Amino acid sequence: MSIPTDTAALPSGARMPLVGLGTWRLSGDVATGCVEAALAAGYRMVDTATRYGNEREVGAAVRASGRPVFVTTKYRDSLSPSPRAALEQSLADLGLDRVDLWLIHNPPRGPVEPVWEEFLRARAEGLVCDIGVSNFSLDLLDEVTRVSGVAPAVNQIRWSPLVFDRAVLDGHRARGVQLAGYSGLRHGTLDHPVIRSIAERHRRSVPQIVVRWHVDHAVVTIPRSSDPHRIASNADVDDLALDPDDRRALDSISA
Ligand SMILES: NC(=O)c1ccc[n+]([C@@H]2O[C@H](COP(=O)([O-])OP(=O)(O)OC[C@H]3O[C@@H](n4cnc5c(N)ncnc54)[C@H](OP(=O)(O)O)[C@@H]3O)[C@@H](O)[C@H]2O)c1
Repeated sequence: MSIPTDTAALPSGARMPLVGLGTWRLSGDVATGCVEAALAAGYRMVDTATRYGNEREVGAAVRASGRPVFVTTKYRDSLSPSPRAALEQSLADLGLDRVDLWLIHNPPRGPVEPVWEEFLRARAEGLVCDIGVSNFSLDLLDEVTRVSGVAPAVNQIRWSPLVFDRAVLDGHRARGVQLAGYSGLRHGTLDHPVIRSIAERHRRSVPQIVVRWHVDHAVVTIPRSSDPHRIASNADVDDLALDPDDRRALDSISA
């Protein structure tokens, strides 16, 4: 059992593991058990959000582990008009003094500037180490950077071989914004014939091929499963080597 230890450097100087556990739709004891299983298997990063309603369970499992775990949570303006109040609630629910990464979950309905200012303030106060966004276009990333002079550390967007777009990946790199992918296994990825044939040739699972592909692109990935065995297996890819033909085939699916 060996999970890649690759990380991405963030503006604070922190290193964000490229592989973590997604926790959307995991709740109650299942959420706690899944985070425990992930940390026992070697994961060192978990992704949650106010919207997921599981920060208590995620935080309890992280704290009980006694391990250094990179925690991401997210603010959604439709759930709370005040980013600061939402962050204080997230920290209380997680049982942490600060989170490693705090994201604007979706482009706000109103102007982004006041929300981002609150994010900058929280970072200055040490309540969060790094700040970022989710579901932002490259244009919206540029707008945030233009109004504040501070680029988001991370943009979390839907990402998989089925939606791979080199211009989007390069656009994040050019801006110094770490791309984090979500829903890497859903929307037909698990059944895709090209990915299945690569998995069969390597005698590995489709999720393992997809996780390895993210890591090879230095993109963060946060596969979710409610099954502890799948959680352990999905990230067990440190010894999996995709060859250039595999990578070309995976990068071409969306063409
Ligand atoms: N920022 C955003 O707007 C946003 C949006 C969506 C998601 N996210 C984040 O990204 C994370 C991952 O995305 P996601 O939750 O959409 O889904 P995902 O990780 O792409 O896929 C999860 C699905 O794959 C199945 N699965 C996992 N491992 C498997 C395996 N080895 N074999 C067969 N099936 C397997 C799971 O079923 P089982 O549970 O039965 O294993 C589940 O149905 C989320 O949990 C969340 O943290 C963020």
